[in-house]
Amino acid sequence: MASSIRISLLVLAASAMVAFAGNFYQEVDITWGDGRGKMLNNGELLSLSLDKSSGSGLQSKKEYLFGKFDMQLKLIPGNSAGTVTTYYLKSPGTTWDEIDFEFLGNLSGDPYTIHTNVFTQGKGNREQQFHLWFDPTKDFHTYSILWNPQHILFSIDGIPIREFRNQESKGVLFPKNQPMRMYSTLWNADDWATRGGLVKTDWSQSPFTASYKSYYAEACVWASGASSCSSSRSSKGAWLTQQMDSASQGRLRQVQKNYMIYNYCTDFKRFPQGIPTECSSAA
Ligand SMILES: *[C@@H]1O[C@H](CO)[C@@H](O)[C@H](O)[C@H]1NC(C)=O
Repeated sequence: MASSIRISLLVLAASAMVAFAGNFYQEVDITWGDGRGKMLNNGELLSLSLDKSSGSGLQSKKEYLFGKFDMQLKLIPGNSAGTVTTYYLKSPGTTWDEIDFEFLGNLSGDPYTIHTNVFTQGKGNREQQFHLWFDPTKDFHTYSILWNPQHILFSIDGIPIREFRNQESKGVLFPKNQPMRMYSTLWNADDWATRGGLVKTDWSQSPFTASYKSYYAEACVWASGASSCSSSRSSKGAWLTQQMDSASQGRLRQVQKNYMIYNYCTDFKRFPQGIPTECSSAA
């Protein structure tokens, strides 16, 4: 008896958290696209679409200074060549910080490219690109950005794909003072996205639609010059001090070995004066 009560309480607590996690009405505004971005199922689902006249986009209502941001995404199915879906954090201004996931579409059957970058005070040039170990158009998968004072970690379905460590002690700038918002957009970039711009968007397939659910930000929310940090009961705010253990470092190396298709750190032609400082120490 007692245990069944305990179980139903647990179920209640879990469902309350999921409802909070999934509600786009509370968490985001659709900021452009003239009706091409839609919230569905009472805010549990969201879709962005693109046609010849416009793409669409959203931004978080809140600004954050550190956080763990999870979004479940199902990318444009079929021929998505020429399209770019983005999911990123960015601060305003000319010396902005930015942490990017971009999903570069492709012809049916050809793999999406996952493009990542980190900007500090307006300077990026830190691209790493990956192919995936699954078809991102079939089902929802969780794309996560962890941003805490120690590092920035990009993960997919909990598997780390990229780490950008805080190496301020070596003179490398790290984003830590400028609050950022979460953004997601879908737009046409057929001048560069697919095979370097060779494959164009096939507008006969439009509208192109990407789907979103379960946006969850466990974060320090920035409001009126002060930050207040949240933590779910289960994590107790562990995200704020989280670091890579040796198991996750091993998984990261495996992904990079098998799925990384571009790494600025090994692009010696691009940096004839020497590769950037953050590359030289083992990540
Ligand atoms: C598209 O598919 C080609 C062929 O498999 C691949 O080389 C490329 O990385 C894929 N992605 C993009 C965005 O071009």
